[in-house]
Amino acid sequence: MNELKHPHVLILAAGQGKRMHSKLPKVLHSVLFRPMLHHVIDLAYALPHSSISVVVGHGKDQVEKACSQYPKLQFFHQKEQKGTAHAVGVAEEFLKTVQGQVLILSGDVCLLRHESVSALIADHNQNENHLTFVTTHLKNPMGYGRVVRNAEGQVQGIKEEADASSEEKKITEINAGLYCFDIRSLLGALARIQSSNKQGEFYLTDAIGLLVQDKKKVVGFPLTDHQEIHGVNDRKALADAERILQVRTNDRLMMSGVTLHQPDSILIDPRCLIGTDVEIGPGTQVSSSRIEEGVVIEGQCRIHDCHLEKGCHIKQGSYLEGSSVGPEAKVGPYAHLRPESKLAKGVKIGNFVEIKKSTLGENTKASHLSYIGDAEIGRNVNIGCGFITCNYDGEHKHKTTIEDNVFVGSDSQVIAPLTLGKDCYVASGSTLTKNVPAGALALGRSKQMNKLNYGKRLRETLKNKK
Ligand code: UD1
Ligand code: CA
Repeated sequence: MNELKHPHVLILAAGQGKRMHSKLPKVLHSVLFRPMLHHVIDLAYALPHSSISVVVGHGKDQVEKACSQYPKLQFFHQKEQKGTAHAVGVAEEFLKTVQGQVLILSGDVCLLRHESVSALIADHNQNENHLTFVTTHLKNPMGYGRVVRNAEGQVQGIKEEADASSEEKKITEINAGLYCFDIRSLLGALARIQSSNKQGEFYLTDAIGLLVQDKKKVVGFPLTDHQEIHGVNDRKALADAERILQVRTNDRLMMSGVTLHQPDSILIDPRCLIGTDVEIGPGTQVSSSRIEEGVVIEGQCRIHDCHLEKGCHIKQGSYLEGSSVGPEAKVGPYAHLRPESKLAKGVKIGNFVEIKKSTLGENTKASHLSYIGDAEIGRNVNIGCGFITCNYDGEHKHKTTIEDNVFVGSDSQVIAPLTLGKDCYVASGSTLTKNVPAGALALGRSKQMNKLNYGKRLRETLKNKK
């Protein structure tokens, strides 16, 4: 296809979404961990395109900010939301300056597949249509615009639910809200759209009837998978959208060699890369992550923005964010890795251990009940139960360095900044305030004193006090 023929993409996302009953703009409600609008923008990016624009209005600043990671997006501001045709109208000046077609998407129709939209554009081009729009048949078409056809089956126009007669309401073929317009034809129709309808809005769908009257080639492009065109107008439809995408994603993963135990309870962001023979337990959620071959993630875990390397094992109830876990490492049960934690190969992190912004070298272990923050820890270090890096003085964070082969006895704490030199040994119950030289034994606890028979006497004194 000629480069110039790639469509301009316009995403309508200015509506408030009254039926959501929410302070958050509708298109920012999340579907599998991301605002529904991101799913639509991702689709636009994945298609060959000449430009991508978003019409914003309600919650404009919030919506634009939520899209800041997308380069080269163009925003148009619809100050008042007077309907979908009015929304397209705010991009009119821009559309006058470009050629070819415009693909119009809705920010609340977020389950479309790349292949379906590509097929729509191909049909539009091959048949030299003026307008191609997606339709489907729904058992329950309530809420959608109905496609009105004549006796010969040719499209005559679209009737919105609010304006449809009881006969028209029986039509099960609906408008999906996805259009490929020849830009000149669209602009010609826009100028003539009126708001004389039940909702007093300027309907983009009226362009269809107008172009038919103009004898322009208008084609309804049917999609058989009606789930794709599911529009989110309320929270029930939001939950349905998430479930549809969940099933689609999980089915794909299972077919590619990932084991999911009770897939209905597992939520995986479709963009995650997950290798073969990965096993994921019930109730687990995975987003923005890369998971290599043979990794096991047990139930009720939350994995966000992580890289889990080959064969590592994340046990029940662990929460991992912004971290990487090396090959064959073991984490949990009930461990918490906070952002910027890096565990090397074979590391073992046990129950109730919290790690923040720290690196742990190969085969290092922290098996029970510890807090490790702002630390750089070498290889083969053994951290006993109940170890704490006291890294915060109320104003600043300080670093702890623990070199290779150090043994840290249980119930110890280091007041950072501090370094434990290579091969040193920290006695249990120590509170360390000074660096420990390599190979030394550090004893940072008060000396024990035993007073013979004193315990027995103390008990008697206390009893007599009653
Ligand atoms: C629209 C269609 C309907 C179709 C349905 C498919 C119209 C008039 N109706 O109805 O035929 O079956 O989609 O999902 O187009 N928006 C703006 N500015 C506005 C109004 C809306 O940007 O002034 C945006 C909304 O944010 C939303 C999209 O346009 O992303 C669709 O608007 P919505 O109000 O949800 O239209 P529907 O009633 O669903
Ligand atoms: Ca809608």
